[in-house]
Amino acid sequence: MQTLQRTFSIVKPDAVAKGATGDIISMIQEKGFRVIGMKMLEITKHQAEGFYAVHADKPFFDSLTNFMSSGPIVVLALEKENAIADLRKLMGATNPANAEAGTVRKKWAESIERNAIHGSDADNTARFELSYFFAGYELNQ
Ligand code: RTP
Ligand code: MG
Repeated sequence: MQTLQRTFSIVKPDAVAKGATGDIISMIQEKGFRVIGMKMLEITKHQAEGFYAVHADKPFFDSLTNFMSSGPIVVLALEKENAIADLRKLMGATNPANAEAGTVRKKWAESIERNAIHGSDADNTARFELSYFFAGYELNQ
């Protein structure tokens, strides 16, 4: 028996700025995800650093957190069977040069950093990321 799983996604500032939000949400819904939470907001550099804390010692951390705080983002709480792995598949490779046809990054990403979409990579990160951006009452049951 398969069970529903939740994951967390961000339409990143590059994609929001070019008007790709609607198309990306459509791609997600066409794969059978249910949107159980959604909001548009801008985050501070400090908030971006907290969200991407696992990357704090990477050389791209400063640039990544500047980018993520550079303009509006859309945060999504998603539910589906096998949601975490299936969203990662739909996103495509981090570097769009390696992204497969039909993926969000193949269609919308500009570079390895400005790559249109974020998705949680495991159960524990999905839980942390959902709770970073959503209160329980903001999620549709
Ligand atoms: P994400 O966390 O945003 O879903 O992306 P991901 O798992 O595919 O990639 P990850 O390794 O977790 O990296 C997080 C984000 O940092 C930026 N990045 N820049 N300049 C670089 O070499 C580089 N590498 C990664 C990307 O925005 C990447 O999505
Ligand atoms: Mg990641």
